[in-house]
Amino acid sequence: MGTTGQVTAMSYRYDIDGVADLEVYEQHDGYEGLRIALGMEPAEIVQAVKDSGLRGRGGAGFPTGLKWSFVAQGTGKPIYIVCNADEGEPGTFKDRPLMELDPHQLIEGMIVGGLALNSEQGYIYLRGEFAHAGRQLAAAIRQAYAKGYLGADVMGSGRRFDLTLHRAAGAYICGEETALLDSLEGRRGQPRLRPPFPAAHGLFGCPTTVNNVESIAAVPFILRHGVDWWRQWGTDKSPGPKLMCISGEVERPGNYEVALGTTVADMIELAGGMKDGRELRFFCPGGSSTPMLPASAADTPYTFEDIAAEGSLLGTGALMIYSTQTSVVDTVLRFTEFYEHESCGKCTPCREGGYWLSQVLRRIVTGGGRMEDLELLEDVCDNIFGRSFCALGDGMTSPIVSSLKYFRDEYETYIRERRCPFGLYPPAPDAPTVEFTAFPAAAGPS
Ligand SMILES: Cc1cc2nc3c(=O)[nH]c(=O)nc-3n(C[C@H](O)[C@H](O)[C@H](O)COP(=O)(O)O)c2cc1C
Ligand code: SF4
Repeated sequence: MGTTGQVTAMSYRYDIDGVADLEVYEQHDGYEGLRIALGMEPAEIVQAVKDSGLRGRGGAGFPTGLKWSFVAQGTGKPIYIVCNADEGEPGTFKDRPLMELDPHQLIEGMIVGGLALNSEQGYIYLRGEFAHAGRQLAAAIRQAYAKGYLGADVMGSGRRFDLTLHRAAGAYICGEETALLDSLEGRRGQPRLRPPFPAAHGLFGCPTTVNNVESIAAVPFILRHGVDWWRQWGTDKSPGPKLMCISGEVERPGNYEVALGTTVADMIELAGGMKDGRELRFFCPGGSSTPMLPASAADTPYTFEDIAAEGSLLGTGALMIYSTQTSVVDTVLRFTEFYEHESCGKCTPCREGGYWLSQVLRRIVTGGGRMEDLELLEDVCDNIFGRSFCALGDGMTSPIVSSLKYFRDEYETYIRERRCPFGLYPPAPDAPTVEFTAFPAAAGPS
């Protein structure tokens, strides 16, 4: 394990005045990674990314270098590199600041990725609501064209790379990489059947890679400072720094950059500790679709392997913190309603299951639940997980299954007392009057 705690690596330019401007960016190492990449063979760039151990920051944690090595070469078709800047997972807000504060970092990463993959055309698929990020990126792309970093002759190398900013309409499912490609082609954004995978048959039927903003923006740093620099942080399986989104009941929610391997408890301290001295009850390690973990798991190092060993996922790096004053069941209802609403409707388990899960949860929080509803929830989840067309369906079940594992007692209290013990919803007409006391933290992973 390398050093842990807060670091300033990929975010080091965030506080530099005017760094969104090309001239200032150039004064702070800007386009140095690209300069180095231009002196390398495409395969060498891919190898460097592989050696760094960089794992995708968009949710699944797939090794970026390996993903790039799958992109079909020599087919005679154009090759595309697509940046996934849709950032829709609840609790996630790390890509938007990167694009707003330091847009050239992403543009440089896209050009380097283009060189590595022999691609002459890249797209940034940007969440439509990110108006400021869109303005920053558009201005930075114009500057990069004017200065010859983009276009027919990248830095006088004779290599071509064009970059298009695509403002999307804002649907969570369009962050799923194949739905994104359909949307980019002008179709309704729904996931595609795989195989064929995008590496062989992606955008417009051509070899394509789709990578997250943070993954792409990391590559110039790796080339500029070297693989050992990147690997000074984290573990063998989870090297590097990570841009974190820490939200919920902490004193200073926000963006933090930490070394992978920093414990969840240390990250809570970094964010000022629990709000008003409250007691930690549970947390979602990587966004609302990652299984929640109880307070007793807070000493887990934040790595792909350690969080997986606890039964959850690193996801997008969106650490959501909740205290004993917060209702688990109500939180789960809100998450479920989000996934129900965002379900694209293509497959039955997710489309119908999401609707029914919301109905049953709403019945429980409003005092009309039955004890059998808990088995019903588990049964519906079981029929969605692994039986849906894309990972949205699986993600929808995570909050429910994990909360039933650790906080079944709270569900039972709702049902027994026929009311919300937190007073969030009016009690059922015949519900007894009961005083609310904060729930104790769960015993921990079994
Ligand atoms: C419903 C759904 C939404 C997703 N939204 C995003 C997103 O907003 N941004 C993102 O980078 N990845 C998102 N992903 C993951 C992408 O499908 C894909 O794995 C990722 O962009 C790959 O990039 P990476 O290898 O750099 O992590 C989403 C996946 C699903 C199933
Ligand atoms: S799992 Fe949900 S979001 Fe994914 S394809 Fe099926 S209906 Fe659409």
